[in-house]
Amino acid sequence: MTESSSAAADSAAGSLPANRGRWSSRFAFILAATGSAVGLGNIWKFPYVTGENGGGAFVLVYLMCIAAVGLPIMMAEVMIGRRGGRSPVNSMRLITERDRLNPAWRLIGVMGVLTAFIILSFYSVIGGWAISYVGVTASGGLAGQSSEGIGEIFSGLLADPGTLMLWHTVFMAMVVLVVARGVRAGLERAVKILMPALFVLLVMVVGYAMTTGHFSEGVAFLFEPNFANLSTSGVLVALGHAFFTLSLGMAIMMAYGSYLPKNVSIAKTAISVSVMDTVVALLAGLAIFPIVFANGLEPGAGPGLIFQTLPLAFGQMPMGSFFGALFFILLVFAAWTSGISLLEPLVEWLEEQKGMNRTISSVVAGVACWALGIASVLSLNLWSDFAPLGSFAMFEGKTIFDLLDFLTANILLPLGGLLVAIFVGWFLSRQALENELSMSARGFALWHNVLRYFTPVAVAVVFIYNLT
Ligand code: PHE
Repeated sequence: MTESSSAAADSAAGSLPANRGRWSSRFAFILAATGSAVGLGNIWKFPYVTGENGGGAFVLVYLMCIAAVGLPIMMAEVMIGRRGGRSPVNSMRLITERDRLNPAWRLIGVMGVLTAFIILSFYSVIGGWAISYVGVTASGGLAGQSSEGIGEIFSGLLADPGTLMLWHTVFMAMVVLVVARGVRAGLERAVKILMPALFVLLVMVVGYAMTTGHFSEGVAFLFEPNFANLSTSGVLVALGHAFFTLSLGMAIMMAYGSYLPKNVSIAKTAISVSVMDTVVALLAGLAIFPIVFANGLEPGAGPGLIFQTLPLAFGQMPMGSFFGALFFILLVFAAWTSGISLLEPLVEWLEEQKGMNRTISSVVAGVACWALGIASVLSLNLWSDFAPLGSFAMFEGKTIFDLLDFLTANILLPLGGLLVAIFVGWFLSRQALENELSMSARGFALWHNVLRYFTPVAVAVVFIYNLT
C-alpha cells in the first residue's frame, strides 16, 4: 500500500491510529491489535475462570478454541477490514454491495457495537480495581500481610461502592479522553514499551512463584487435563473466553485490519497476536496458581483471584511495593488500550449515524457506558444478593455483573464470531479470499475448511448443549 492510499484508508476509517512516519503498518497493526487483545482478559479473567472450571482440561479446551476457532475468525475479521478498507460498518456495506449480498449482514457490525458497549461497562469497573491496587501496593501496606489480611483488603474494596465508583469513573474518563482526542496512536506506541515491561514483571512473579515450593502443583493444575473436572458449561466458558481475550466477535479486528498493507500476511500477523495473547495468559496462570496453593487459597475464588494472590507475592518479595505498584500500573495500561478499543466502535457509529462530532460522541458514549457500569458496581455490594434471572437454573445466583459478563462473553461474542465465519466462509467468493490472504494452497484450504465447517459446527454444538 502506498503512503497516500494508506492515508486515504486512515481517513475513511475515522480517526483510528495513523501509521505514518517510520512505523511500518504491519507493526502498527500488531501494536494496536495486541493492545486490544492483551488486557484484563489475560491477567484477571483467564486465571479465575480456569480456577472456577477445574484447571487443566479447561485450559486445553481453551487452547483448542484459540487455535481452531479464534485464529481462523481473527483472520476472517482482519480480511474483511482490509478488503473493505473502512470502518467495520462501511467495510461490510462495501463488500455486501460489491458482491451483491444481503445488506442485513451489516448487523454484524451493529451487534458488535452493542456488545462492546456492555463489556466496557463492567470492564471499566475491574479496570478501577486495578487502579486502586496501584495505591494499595505502593503504600507498602502489603508487606508481611497474611492471606487473610489481603483478603480483607479486597473485600473491603468490594464493600465500598463509593471507592469503586471513584475508580470506575477515573478509568472511564481515561478511556473517553483518549478516544475523544483521537490520540490513541501515541498510546499504542507506548504499548511497545509497556507490554514487554508487563511481560517482564509477569516473568518475575512466575520466578517468585517458583520459590513458594508449590510451583509444580500450579503447573499440574494448569496443564494436567482431568476431564472429570470440566462441565459442559465450562466448555462454553472456554469458547467464550477465547473470543473475549482475542477481542473477536465484535468487528474490532475488522477496524484494525483496514490498516494492514496488502503485502502483509494476514495469517502470520494473526498468529503473532494470538500467540502473544496466549503466552501472557499462561504466564499469569503460572504466576498465580502456585501462590494459591502455597497459601491454602481456593482456585475457584472467582473474580477476586488475582487481587488476593498477587498482593501476597508482592508483600513477600524484596522491593515488593515498588514492583507491585509497577505491575498494577502496567495492568492499568493494558486494560486502558483494551478499553479504548471497546469504546471506539460506538463512537464511530454515533459519528456516522447521528452526525455528532467526535468529542460529543465520545462523551455521550462514555457517560452512557459509565451509567450502566454503576449496576455492576452495586452488584458487588448493595445488590450482591440480587439475581435478576435467578429463577432460571442457568442463571442461578448470577448478579447483574455476572449476567452482563455471561451474556457478552458466552453468548454475544460467539454469536458474532459464528456470523463472521458463515459470512466469510460461505458468502464471499473463494477467489477473493485467496487473493486477499495469499497463503500457500494447503494453508488456505485448511483455513477455509475450518472456517466453513469446523468453526460454525463447534460454536453451534457448544451453544445447543448449554442453552437447552
Ligand atoms: N481482549 C481484551 C482483554 O483480554 C478485552 C476485550 C474484549 C477488548 C473484547 C476488546 C474487545 O482484556
